[in-house]
Amino acid sequence: MAVSQTQMTQLIDAARAARERAYAPYSKFAVGAALLDEQGRVHAGCNIENAAYPQGQCAEASALAHLVLAGGMRVLAAVVVGVADGPVTPCGGCRQKLREFAHDDDMPVWCADLREVRGRYTLGELLPASFGPAHLPSP
Ligand code: THU
Repeated sequence: MAVSQTQMTQLIDAARAARERAYAPYSKFAVGAALLDEQGRVHAGCNIENAAYPQGQCAEASALAHLVLAGGMRVLAAVVVGVADGPVTPCGGCRQKLREFAHDDDMPVWCADLREVRGRYTLGELLPASFGPAHLPSP
């Protein structure tokens, strides 16, 4: 499904704004994410850490929670914003979480910092030969 440059720019802006809200007192590594749903809506989220370290939540998971709560069914595009030497790509677990709602393997996943887009990927590049709902027997 075609996603416009304007929509990608909206996602970048939303992910940067979400990153400002990150709760990351332990790693000090703020991340924002934004997702485009099938209705053209943008859902954003930030990472939320916890003193019990494994209970922390990634920005992508926060954004997915907002998408699902709003009634979104599909993710058409994703942007992750973080500041590092290279592109801040989604962690392995988040790649799988995004895959659950992705429209297809061609879904764009862009990684940006505060200045520019550092990496442009597809979900299929980040998570090839992935496991998904179709692998499960139908109920
Ligand atoms: N983080 C994310 O929010 N998304 C990712 O895909 C990579 C990592 C967060 C988790 C943790 O709060 C911090 O970045 C450092 O790992």
